Amino acid sequence: MATPVKIAPSLLSADFARLGEDATDVLDAGADWLHIDAMDGRFVPNLTFGAPIVASLNEITDATLDCHLMVKRPNERINAFIDAGADIITVHAEAATHLHRTLTAIQDAGVQAGVALNPHTPLSTIEHILPQLDLLLVMTVNPGFSGQAFIETMLPKIQAAREMIDHADASIELEVDGGVGPKTAPNVRKAGATALVAGSAIFNADEPYHERIPRLRGTA
Ligand code: DX5
Ligand code: ZN
Repeated sequence: MATPVKIAPSLLSADFARLGEDATDVLDAGADWLHIDAMDGRFVPNLTFGAPIVASLNEITDATLDCHLMVKRPNERINAFIDAGADIITVHAEAATHLHRTLTAIQDAGVQAGVALNPHTPLSTIEHILPQLDLLLVMTVNPGFSGQAFIETMLPKIQAAREMIDHADASIELEVDGGVGPKTAPNVRKAGATALVAGSAIFNADEPYHERIPRLRGTA
């Protein structure tokens, strides 16, 4: 049987007043990674959390801390996330002027490096650096907020990304983020994603985490 997709609950939809409990609850219910959305109020309109939150989470769990940086000038921020104990640092192609340099700096520190693409950004943007990536994040909403509707026209982009990775014979996680829930997850899995981010579909679910997580994974 093929490896099931990883589920990465986005803490953006958690209760910030009990972030640690929410994080351990979803991990206990079978989540694979914790997805941490760092937003600077400049690259995206919203302002969320930064490296100190990652450091605190790192104190309470050994789980993979999957940090999605929605910030301008990510090269100026990565060291703080590396020092905080991030396991994966994903930067936006649209925000990094010297993307290859930024990815190299992340990897030189022993951290996995990812690139995120906004819905309008073509896959060809990362064509020449693909073999270097540990993770490719295809955004299926415009980044900034949780609870937005999945952009259906991104499904062919996910499929094309799958083909690109397979063609390169590279072991790269294909992560999909935005509007992933029980209705959209089956198509995202079918398109070839290996990791699904879900915020509102987990933390605002009308069923317990231990039922919702396998449902998104397709193993319920
Ligand atoms: C959006 C963030 C997402 C967001 C997902 O900018 O990158 O990770 O929290 O939330 P849902 O799953 O509710 O769309
Ligand atoms: Zn995200």
